[in-house]
Amino acid sequence: MIDRRTLMAGGGAVALGAATGVGAASSRSLAASARAKGIRFGSTIGIGNFADPGYRQLNAAQCGLVVPEVEMKWQALRPNARRFDFRAADAIVDWARSNRKGIRGHTLLWHFERWMPEWTRIHDYGANPRAEATRLLVEHVDTVARRYAPAIDSFDVVNEAIDPDTGLLRDTVLSKPLGAEATIDLAFHTARAAAPGAELVYNDFMSWRTDDGRHRDAVLRLLDGMRRRGTPVTALGIQSHLGSKYSEAPTGLGAVDEAAWRRFLNEVTGMGLDLLVTELDVHDNPLPSAIGPRDRQVAAHTRAYLDVMLSYPQCRTVMCWGLSDRYSWLQPLRPRPDGLPKRPLPYDADFAPKPMRDAIAAAFAAAAPRTPARA
Ligand code: XIL
Repeated sequence: MIDRRTLMAGGGAVALGAATGVGAASSRSLAASARAKGIRFGSTIGIGNFADPGYRQLNAAQCGLVVPEVEMKWQALRPNARRFDFRAADAIVDWARSNRKGIRGHTLLWHFERWMPEWTRIHDYGANPRAEATRLLVEHVDTVARRYAPAIDSFDVVNEAIDPDTGLLRDTVLSKPLGAEATIDLAFHTARAAAPGAELVYNDFMSWRTDDGRHRDAVLRLLDGMRRRGTPVTALGIQSHLGSKYSEAPTGLGAVDEAAWRRFLNEVTGMGLDLLVTELDVHDNPLPSAIGPRDRQVAAHTRAYLDVMLSYPQCRTVMCWGLSDRYSWLQPLRPRPDGLPKRPLPYDADFAPKPMRDAIAAAFAAAAPRTPARA
């Protein structure tokens, strides 16, 4: 018979396990499960959650790798054309280093006008806009990469350079005078000079969805062009925001085309590039309201996806875009139509492990061992 005291003690243990992510069902951390196969596992932390001690503790317990969510973007680092503000990024880097975590840098250039700071649009580019755009870009990439190169061994150099609907390269206020290709190349060459030993990543959200062929093809064209021009890209970051492209998709998580996805990954690795899962989460809007079935579908989708990704020995990094549903970027940006809280991540809003957490651990357990990344 279980008496009240035992029950209370058990309840306490469950609560503690939930808070630290080290409960009986999950005694091995995700980082340790990954490390056993030569894989680095981590997540993003930053504005809005870094101040939460319980969340920092969950990250410390589960992650071997950390990426600042916004603190290393232009918007955060560059209040204006003359000044850098490193305080928020430094705080995360200091915390990660004191907890012996690896760190990824995201992103030296988000090549998407909408995410460039407002001042870049009203800035005076003078009589030679090309020279001024070059100066600003080189100054930024060089300063940030050089400052963090001792702590960071993997940078998302360029993020989301392609318009997925047209398959064409985007333009920004910086790239208009330079040309988009030249802008991307310059960012990579500058990063290489400033961080000679780092993994240099092109990061984007092309996916395994059936409706994403145009985006995949465009990424292949971009990578192939970079390779032919001698641009020093070493890996493709696959954001992996899984689920349907449009939140109004009528059913399920959208159709996936695994064969097309493998053809894409084969082409990328055939170019000699490594693969990273950089921002995993599951956009659960089209899934049922009931938590049980919803969590099970999120977990099954995650497992199937990671099995494909980890079948490539070139994939040695898996990062979630947040660990807990409490802090998912998708909640404010893409709320569910039924108004219920979203459940896109491996831990729930109270930091208790969910089936998605088990799915990630199981995918690591099933993965073949690989030569660890250079870090
Ligand atoms: C998101 C952050 O999570 C949000 O807090 C911010 O408001 C917008 O950016 N792809 C990326 C990430 O490469 O930088 C984005 O992060 C999510 C989509």
